Amino acid sequence: MRAFVFTLGMLLLVACTLAGTAAVPTRTALPVASAERGKILFQNKGCVTCHHNSRVEYGGLSLNIGPDLSLYTADPAFLRQWLADPAAIRPAAQMPDLQLTPIEIEDLIAFLNQKD
Ligand code: HEC
Repeated sequence: MRAFVFTLGMLLLVACTLAGTAAVPTRTALPVASAERGKILFQNKGCVTCHHNSRVEYGGLSLNIGPDLSLYTADPAFLRQWLADPAAIRPAAQMPDLQLTPIEIEDLIAFLNQKD
């Protein structure tokens, strides 16, 4: 009986250790958000068609229906939600959900909040 309890204890220990080891790869650092990539996304994702931003050169068609974002900054937590799904925050929002990935959103936040 004692041997059985001991074996069970060892098994649990091994299982926990393995589980702990298995969890390590998921803790690898995410790529650091890049304002430079955010600036490119601001053009490539079509933000420029609705928003002016003095830090982005754009000579194409602009509807200018969104606010000027040249001097805009906001809380990253808000922007994370807004850029993922504007209508979830304000049902009357005109800005569409642009199907951005979480990393694209982080890059855009870094760009929008960068003031130089
Ligand atoms: C089809 C036009 C359109 C596109 C494309 C668009 N927006 Fe907007 N955006 C708007 C409008 C309009 C508003 C004002 C709020 C509303 O009615 O949705 C807005 C609001 C915002 C705001 C201000 C939110 C607040 O209230 O503080 C930010 C920041 C923003 N947009 C960023 C972006 C970024 C970044 C992109 C590109 C990934 C983008 N927008 C693409 C139309 C657009």
